[in-house]
Amino acid sequence: MSTTATAENTSKDPFEAQHEEARKAAQILQDEQIAVDTATLRLLLTEARTHYGWQDKPVGENTLRELYELAKMGPTSMNQQPMRVLFIQSADAKDRLEPCLMPPNRPKMRTAPVTAIIAYDLNFWEELPRLFPPNPDAQDNFRNNTTAAQVNAFRNGTLQGAYFMIAARAVGLDVGAMSGFDNAKVDEEFFHGTSLKSNFLVNLGYADTSKIFRRLDRLEYDEVCQTL
Ligand SMILES: Cc1cc2nc3c(=O)[nH]c(=O)nc-3n(C[C@H](O)[C@H](O)[C@H](O)COP(=O)(O)O)c2cc1C
Repeated sequence: MSTTATAENTSKDPFEAQHEEARKAAQILQDEQIAVDTATLRLLLTEARTHYGWQDKPVGENTLRELYELAKMGPTSMNQQPMRVLFIQSADAKDRLEPCLMPPNRPKMRTAPVTAIIAYDLNFWEELPRLFPPNPDAQDNFRNNTTAAQVNAFRNGTLQGAYFMIAARAVGLDVGAMSGFDNAKVDEEFFHGTSLKSNFLVNLGYADTSKIFRRLDRLEYDEVCQTL
């Protein structure tokens, strides 16, 4: 592309002022050289644990909203954001979810104040004109390609599920993820006739810390990482 063409394109971009604002904000953040403090790392990762037992203490809707406001900021391919979340809170909803779970997981879900079904929408691409305006034809990658839609929905929906768990810890919740359930049963019970598919569950609340065991080994850098 010639220099002239680039300049023309830039001058026509109606979002140029917003691009500039974003660049300034990113530069300010970089210049601040913010170091994560130890307490935050302990809360989010180094001492945070997966929990299996729960105190009888409710989780307010504001906390769930705060959680989502953080989680939604994590990056996804083409800004796809395919994750959809169904919060299972009422006794009636828990009654419907319970038979879908492997028996050992049932009391973990039952005692949690809220269980999030982390799902993904196979029709996520319908939102792309709004979510990814740089490519007005982005939908074409998925409209007639169910494999591409499935791969992208699962990849990015799973990433968003991970952001969701870290965000939950950041707003002071304890977290216990579970994949020991029948996805087809959950989909039939909660998402029948829709384009949503369940991925995994996240129990949320304030943990009964007496229910955890010792921390299990993590693989070490040299076992996992290579540099070419
Ligand atoms: C996607 C996912 C699915 C999981 N499924 C189950 C499950 O079905 N039942 C269960 O008791 N724990 C489940 N776990 C918990 C893991 O075993 C636990 O997170 C892991 O051993 C690390 O524990 P820690 O966070 O306390 O170190 C799951 C965790 C994740 C992230």
